Amino acid sequence: MTSRRLVLTQSAALIGATSTGLLLPAIARAQGSKVRVGLMLPYTGTYAQLGVAIENGFRMAIDEQGGKLGGREIEYFKVDDESDPSKAIENANKLVQRDKVDVLVGTVHSGVQMGIQKVARESGVLSLIPNAGVEAATRALCAPNVFRTSFTNSQPTLALGKVLMDRGHKKAVWITWKYAAGDEAFGGFKESYTKAGGTIVKELGLPFPNVEFQALLTEIAALKPDAVACFFAGGGAVKFMKDYAAAGLKGKIPLYGSGFLTEGVLDAAGPAADGIMTTLHYSDSLNTPRNHSFRLAYAKAFRSQPDVYAVQGYDTGLLLVHGANAVKGDLASKPAFYKAMETATIDSPRGKWTMSKTHNPVQDIYLRVVENRENKVLGVAAKALSDSGAGCKMV
Ligand code: BEZ
Repeated sequence: MTSRRLVLTQSAALIGATSTGLLLPAIARAQGSKVRVGLMLPYTGTYAQLGVAIENGFRMAIDEQGGKLGGREIEYFKVDDESDPSKAIENANKLVQRDKVDVLVGTVHSGVQMGIQKVARESGVLSLIPNAGVEAATRALCAPNVFRTSFTNSQPTLALGKVLMDRGHKKAVWITWKYAAGDEAFGGFKESYTKAGGTIVKELGLPFPNVEFQALLTEIAALKPDAVACFFAGGGAVKFMKDYAAAGLKGKIPLYGSGFLTEGVLDAAGPAADGIMTTLHYSDSLNTPRNHSFRLAYAKAFRSQPDVYAVQGYDTGLLLVHGANAVKGDLASKPAFYKAMETATIDSPRGKWTMSKTHNPVQDIYLRVVENRENKVLGVAAKALSDSGAGCKMV
């Protein structure tokens, strides 16, 4: 090759490298590329509606930033996890190994979350939990790269026991789906109810997502407790409330629940839900400018009313935006990125909340009642409630 041809070849290579960004420092290159966001949520099955609301809320928070994270464009990758724990590891790896996501947002079901947790701990990929309340994720299996923006399963029900006792219900039956979410919600209820002097006369359960409630409702009628407390959510919650009313129990034995019972389902449940009292970290009717503006913007964007799942998805977006802005989009600067998320105060439609040292929200729990297809807030049942984080080695 002549020296002139060599120079030309080298200049062409240089121009090519510059235009593809190969000569830029690694950080600048990373900041110039798109952030790869994986959404692992249920889009089918009894929790399908929950997955959609979370995605809507998440996208809304990002769209408020012009669709960018710390100045970088985003590319989304989606997997329907079907709320099936047996496919959880394979599904999480589709996003982590195949799609090489920078952040994995998911999921709803506690059993599926355990699969994500394993993949997150092994790969080190940032995992943001927008719903699933399984305690281990921010207790014994906590990790620096795992942050939850929702709750632990026992948080809402730790505020429920006293509510029943204050209303004179001294004997209660508990009923739920038998998996981590229901069992841990029971843990919170049992602790708070027995501490307040209540007696649990029977703990009833059926496998997730079974909705054959009839035999259990017949048993409740025979037991004649002062009240019933429960954990159900999504499509199964609608069926439970309707079957409870159809069995003639509504109006005779008051029904209470972890607040998911009445979230996102009030149009479908209709009058069967009226008067049901629940405890949760959100209420439709929170009378704050922040909640009003969120509800208005969500209704305009998605032509539906937001629920707690939409709020949690939105807050997941807010947290990620906060962290990404702090490092100007350089998500590889993990210490600074994670520190920013750890110390964030999230100005949420649910009220301001902070992150505990084990990466779980410290938040108010509200007492609500269903009226006219709305969860009306009656007051704060527990102020700035944090999870114990027991067994987490990060603290
Ligand atoms: C859970 O599996 O952790 C869960 C599902 C729906 C609502 C709340 C918790």
